[in-house]
Amino acid sequence: MQIVVFSTKPYDRRFLGAANAAAGHPHRLVFQEARLAPETAALARGAEAACVFVNDQAGAAVLESLAAAGVRILALRCAGFNNVDLVAAQRLGITVARVPAYSPESVAEHTVAMMLALNRHIHRAYHRVRDGNFALDGLLGFDMHGRTAGIVGTGRIGLAVARILRGFGCRLLAHDPHPAAEAAALDLAYVPLETLLAQADIVTLHCPLTPATHHLIDAAAIARMRPGAMLVNTSRGAIVDTRAVIAGLKSGRIGLLGLDVYEEEGDLFFEDLSGRMLQDDVFARLLTFPNVLVTAHQAFFTAEAMTAIAATTLGNLSAFAATGRALHEVSVERLA
Ligand code: NAI
Repeated sequence: MQIVVFSTKPYDRRFLGAANAAAGHPHRLVFQEARLAPETAALARGAEAACVFVNDQAGAAVLESLAAAGVRILALRCAGFNNVDLVAAQRLGITVARVPAYSPESVAEHTVAMMLALNRHIHRAYHRVRDGNFALDGLLGFDMHGRTAGIVGTGRIGLAVARILRGFGCRLLAHDPHPAAEAAALDLAYVPLETLLAQADIVTLHCPLTPATHHLIDAAAIARMRPGAMLVNTSRGAIVDTRAVIAGLKSGRIGLLGLDVYEEEGDLFFEDLSGRMLQDDVFARLLTFPNVLVTAHQAFFTAEAMTAIAATTLGNLSAFAATGRALHEVSVERLA
């Protein structure tokens, strides 16, 4: 099968290439650096499969172009599928497949790394020490032990975060319309979102981006948070209303903010833009706060996760080539 791989980075070539070589019947991988968008969909001509990542655009118009080019399967090399119009895909007969679980620990460990870095101001201390400034003023943290962490979304990643935080001795609150079976073993107490926001010293987001979770953390939600609380989002940018968060930082309601994802990250993340002028004024404002730590959607980026993503992606594509069904299909019902 010919597979056009959009948004290719050197590491995608490395891991997908290795997984393809390891497969019994290698596919023909055509690597494109371009992001999938209306103006690049034609690059799929001649391919039966298109392989995409988080910031590729797979709206109705793009899917129509892909279908016209002969594409029958869209293989996401990620878990989230908020960038795909599933209704249009179904109408066009394009199978959508994803990598549901590759290494929840990769994202969970990065989430906790952000919590610790923010709490102990590691990002500021790093620069101070290199600058010969060994003063501690402004670097006061808090013990994680005994603090309350609120986990919004207790799927694979949320539960992995819960396991780590439990080890720290945190009290764990959770909010999820589908409570996890392991909740009791982890001492996870499910509460309404309002209660979680009112009681948590740390709020961490691990729900998917859906119409119901779009701007779940808006001005009203922020007003319910404990003054000075920490907010961490390693899930999807638009779960948080960035402008409301900036207002919350200015008022001090949000004391510490960690973001691995950003609403408008599609124009920024995964590219080296260091030689250009930053055009996004909202993002630029975020970067001015000393109590904000932003990473550019790197939570998944471990060797283990990349190996698993490549293997599952190729597994989806090989199964589709052999049987017409992918291993991990995403159906319209997932939108509910
Ligand atoms: P999952 O599907 O295992 O768990 C998601 C959980 O969120 C489910 O338990 C679901 O019931 C819950 N949920 C749905 N709506 C909710 C709501 N309104 N409030 C609270 N909980 C809600 O997904 P997984 O693997 O844990 O991933 C979570 C998200 O993390 C993905 O959807 C993706 O957006 C993001 N992600 C980010 C990565 C990164 O590199 N920053 C990498 C991988 C995933």
